[in-house]
Amino acid sequence: MPRKPKPAAPGSSPDIEAMIRVDHAGEYGAVRIYQGQLAVLKNGAAADTIRHMAEQEQRHLKTFDRLVNERRVRPTALEPIWRVAGFALGAATALMGEKAAFACTAAVEEVIDEHYASQVAALEGKDAALQATVAEFRAEEAEHRDTALQNGAEQAPGYRLLSATIKAGCRVAIKLSEKI
Ligand SMILES: [Fe+2]
Ligand SMILES: [Fe+2]
Repeated sequence: MPRKPKPAAPGSSPDIEAMIRVDHAGEYGAVRIYQGQLAVLKNGAAADTIRHMAEQEQRHLKTFDRLVNERRVRPTALEPIWRVAGFALGAATALMGEKAAFACTAAVEEVIDEHYASQVAALEGKDAALQATVAEFRAEEAEHRDTALQNGAEQAPGYRLLSATIKAGCRVAIKLSEKI
């Protein structure tokens, strides 16, 4: 079906729009994952650590909310899915225990780190402001991954399968949210 042409957003090419759309979706998903974890683990030993990461995700999301508005990017139509799936992933892994929750975080953040690294490279010479934002957030995502690993992610029962499954799911979510 032919798409209706949209008025050009200031300074955004279709590629950059897709980047903002998927990053906005991803940060929303991250917020929901950490909310799901905290719903289960809010009084646990790891609560403060998780809360700190959740606050950083809120800031990432707020920034992409702003970028979606400023640059008139169509947000993903899949938000209702990420709303439920993100929370469910966070809560389900948290119910398996703190180490499984951290295994989830390590897996998600590793994929996001790769995703943001490829965007930083793709944005070179194209959009310095967005590149700087993505690079800054990437550093925090890498910190989240390291925090999760330091908190015993790899000792979670069934770590390898859990991690591989979550990473595969994240990669599919990224592909879908770029386009849909
Ligand atoms: Fe984030
Ligand atoms: Fe993160």
